[in-house]
Amino acid sequence: MAADRAELVRSMFTRIARRYDLMNALMSFGRHQAWRRAAARATIAAPDGLALDLATGTADLALAILELVPHRRVIGADFSEGMLREARRKLAGRPAALVALLAADALALPFADASFVCVTSAFLLRNLTDLDQGLREMRRVTQPGGRVVTLEITRPTLPVFSLVFGLYFHRLVPALGAAVAGDRQAYRYLPDSVERFVTPDELVARMRGAGLRSASYQRLGLGTIAVHTAIA
Ligand SMILES: C[S@@+](CC[C@H](N)C(=O)[O-])C[C@H]1O[C@@H](n2cnc3c(N)ncnc32)[C@H](O)[C@@H]1O
Repeated sequence: MAADRAELVRSMFTRIARRYDLMNALMSFGRHQAWRRAAARATIAAPDGLALDLATGTADLALAILELVPHRRVIGADFSEGMLREARRKLAGRPAALVALLAADALALPFADASFVCVTSAFLLRNLTDLDQGLREMRRVTQPGGRVVTLEITRPTLPVFSLVFGLYFHRLVPALGAAVAGDRQAYRYLPDSVERFVTPDELVARMRGAGLRSASYQRLGLGTIAVHTAIA
């Protein structure tokens, strides 16, 4: 059952990979890179060493980390070959070996314990079939004292704005997905997955449950985005 859901998620991202960046720019009114930069800033406190950007997709967060700390070595891992293909295309025009890409499942990472000084993920967690296992894996591969940083879409709480956002997200975004990416279903899944996902406070509790310390978050994008930071 969980394996079927994971396969649906994987094939969906492979399907939309070519239009993924364009859709992000349109849906976020150009704000999506600023949110990734905020997540990247949260990794600055990590010591020198190897970083992992989990579910790297088209590698935008990995690149945001490198923009801030150019000497950082970054591995970008994702389980969708289609997304990794787009990441390779993007990285091809840049200096070699900036980001090493590899295929990996966030629920069973092919890395030894404490391999990284920081582990990040943007827009991954609500896609996981087992959130707690994903968080445990992030903690396991981060060295003690290293940083775990996650970026996710959240349901806004401002009364009038949350109504407007709900209409936008559930009505307009699927229509945009159909027109631009040719995939209404994927852009219906997006708001539905946000609806099902835990609140930012609950995510703090789940991070603690996974053994992470000092978990906290900041909201961005009028409360539609949360950046969580914790210490392994
Ligand atoms: C919404 S995209 C985010 C991509 C990128 N982090 C960004 O900032 O745009 C979600 C990504 O998570 C990946 N993903 C979902 N579940 C995964 C899993 N179990 N293991 C590895 N990657 C996963 C998908 O393939 C997809 O590339």
